[in-house]
Amino acid sequence: MDLVIRGGTVVGESGPYRADIGIRDGRIAAIYSPGNAVEARATIDANGKLVLPGVIDVHVHMEIPFCGTVSSDDFASGSKAAAFGGVTTMIDFAIQAPGETLAEAVAKRKEVAAAKSAIDFGLHCGITDWSPATRGGMREVVEAGIPSFKVFMIYKQEGWMADDGVMFECFEEAASLGATVCVHAENPYLIDVFTERALASGRTDAVQHALSRPNFSESEAVQRAVYLAAMSGAKVYIVHMSASDSARVVEEWLACGYPVLAETCPQYLVLDNRAFEGPDGHLYATCPPIRFEEDCEYLWGAVAGGSIQVVSTDHCSFTRAQKDAWGGDFRKIPFGLPGVETLLPILMTHGVGEGRLPLERLVEVLCANPARIFGLYPEKGTLSVGSDADIVVIDPKRKKQITPGSLHMNCDYSPYEGDTLTGFPDITMQRGRVIVEDGKFLGAAGEGRFLERKPAGGDESG
Ligand code: URP
Ligand code: ZN
Ligand code: ZN
Repeated sequence: MDLVIRGGTVVGESGPYRADIGIRDGRIAAIYSPGNAVEARATIDANGKLVLPGVIDVHVHMEIPFCGTVSSDDFASGSKAAAFGGVTTMIDFAIQAPGETLAEAVAKRKEVAAAKSAIDFGLHCGITDWSPATRGGMREVVEAGIPSFKVFMIYKQEGWMADDGVMFECFEEAASLGATVCVHAENPYLIDVFTERALASGRTDAVQHALSRPNFSESEAVQRAVYLAAMSGAKVYIVHMSASDSARVVEEWLACGYPVLAETCPQYLVLDNRAFEGPDGHLYATCPPIRFEEDCEYLWGAVAGGSIQVVSTDHCSFTRAQKDAWGGDFRKIPFGLPGVETLLPILMTHGVGEGRLPLERLVEVLCANPARIFGLYPEKGTLSVGSDADIVVIDPKRKKQITPGSLHMNCDYSPYEGDTLTGFPDITMQRGRVIVEDGKFLGAAGEGRFLERKPAGGDESG
């Protein structure tokens, strides 16, 4: 064996158990009953520690040109920060530019990410310029290891918005390819109405960002997207779901037997509209917006209960200076929040620590389900013999307060500043190599591999 992790509590989908883990050639080679591991060239003592699969963040935006600027984490800084947070795989987006083929968009993004990413990564393909050629190009993308697409129901100003016809045709093609379509579900026409009303009453302050996007502007879009997907037979995955009403819509479809997939993000679980109060309110603008305390509680229930299968971050960081460019007009705030580094600690602290989520459910929503849904299982997302040795070792007693400067993302604030979190890893390992240990980064930009994924098998919900 190259390495043995001894004495830890391994967290699997069916619960925690004591075991030693043997690693050879970057993979898990054996799982031993405690104390029975063979000798190895190196040993990690995990007594008193939790041993989890590396987290898979299936929704990040590194160095994305957006809202007139570029998100502040590039693939190097973002993937390094991810490793500090126990994330060993991320899926970013290759978003089609006008006139570009999907294959061109993918090739460009892959090159940038491969040169810089310190962790393994995949891509979803964002469809923004629909045409028969774009439709025809979807097959090539799937064959290149990208069996998931993304459509945006908003963002007309970015040139990204898909209308219902485009969305339906994209669903049809994806269904024929066995691919999954991720949907940003918000209704742009309702948002326009409420934006105009805010302006007519002379209000441009930060909270208007949230008030102009009421819960039903999301839940209506979720309902429509899932309905169109159901009519085409496509696998649909609703990204960054924020509103309790949307979760109810998903639950109704699941009850009817339609296997809709949905994710939420930490910001929708632990932050609420009070974030918009005070001079820093604009720092919290993201789409869809942070909502109300009752939404947070409902979403926690949906994550624990299984109607939301994944928690990802939608990491899209902007510095204070970038956010400050809003100049007091909520329409001009760059939308997005930093979060890839705090995903696991937020769920450990406020989910597991506060009794909302059993540890095994945390492993499902952060590791196993993302891997299954996006075609990475069992290479990733599980601690099983044969799987990649992407492993996180956590001291459940160690706490860290979030302060400016305590994190590694290229962002000078955190939405969780002041919070004290458990769950930052002592060790993060990628394919058997330690890339973070005791607060030191031992990885390197460009060492992450592009993950060629296969369409998932269709048994992913739950
Ligand atoms: O406001 C957000 N969420 N920014 C990132 C782009 C997106 O919609 O996912
Ligand atoms: Zn989105
Ligand atoms: Zn996003």
